[in-house]
Amino acid sequence: MRRGSIFQLLGIAAIAAVITSLVAVLVPWLPIPASKEAGRIHFVYWFTTVICIAVFAVVVAVMTYSVLKFRARPDDDSDGPPIHGHTKLEIVWTAIPAVLVTAISIVSAIVLAQNSRTGSHPLVVKVNAVQFAWKFTYPNGKSYGYMTLPKGRHVKLDITANDVIHSFWSPELSQKQDAVPGQHTYLVITPTRTGTFPVICTELCGLGHALMRSHVTIIPAPKFDSWLKSGGQAPAGPPGLAVFEQSGCGGCHTLTAAPGANGKVGPDLDNLKQAAAKANRGPLAAFIKESIVKPDAYIAPGYQNQMPTSFGTSIPPDKLTQLVQYLEQSAK
Ligand code: CUA
Repeated sequence: MRRGSIFQLLGIAAIAAVITSLVAVLVPWLPIPASKEAGRIHFVYWFTTVICIAVFAVVVAVMTYSVLKFRARPDDDSDGPPIHGHTKLEIVWTAIPAVLVTAISIVSAIVLAQNSRTGSHPLVVKVNAVQFAWKFTYPNGKSYGYMTLPKGRHVKLDITANDVIHSFWSPELSQKQDAVPGQHTYLVITPTRTGTFPVICTELCGLGHALMRSHVTIIPAPKFDSWLKSGGQAPAGPPGLAVFEQSGCGGCHTLTAAPGANGKVGPDLDNLKQAAAKANRGPLAAFIKESIVKPDAYIAPGYQNQMPTSFGTSIPPDKLTQLVQYLEQSAK
């Protein structure tokens, strides 16, 4: 092969590698990890991506070069030269992928092993999935509809389900684990940054599957200790906020005042006043209450009615009043 050809090949490969690398790096494909385990999983992603980019660049270079160099001229009807295999080349293109795939599986196996290490005293949180909600139970026996975790500690999730198969997933924690009736599955999480992140069911489990969302709030370890000691009170805030969080409203609705409430399935609750005016169904508080208790009585334009009709019975009357007041006050 002539020197010029090698430079041409390398040039095309370099261009392909640069473009693909930019696509890989500039687009935020992955959320910022919030646990050690997620960080390791992201490492595997990047390790594999670098290999993929290299292979892609080589393939694109050879392909483009061949298309340009060896294409038949319009008036050329002759047969190509008789070629029969190239043993050295075949050994090379078998050996290199074998090495790369083996490297990926070794790295994955190491990360899998590290990610299942619980440390000596993990905090065990029991996760119970039902159609269509999550329940998180702590060592003090208290249960919540959302999860609170201490930063920097090993946490072991003991996951099961009551009815059908669900699947626990939080994008920032990267890991995913099925919740299976009659079985216990486990996940180890070592949170590395504070914040509130979504928890999503990723197994089609029935009509309310898309609504089966909760969230996990990671707080500093000392704050977590006092939270657990105090019987795990809801984080400080108006009482209506606690009802809002326990009912999982933020999974479907956006409300700036409530941390982590950024759902897009239902109407934006920041615009409640405008929505109430448009709906013209009485005063704001009455409209909010009706929308919670009888969600199908009025459906905001542009939305389908997907909201469960059970909140009228599942939320006790005093809590419902708190929730309505809270939404009324935080509406702009
Ligand atoms: Cu539970 Cu999907």
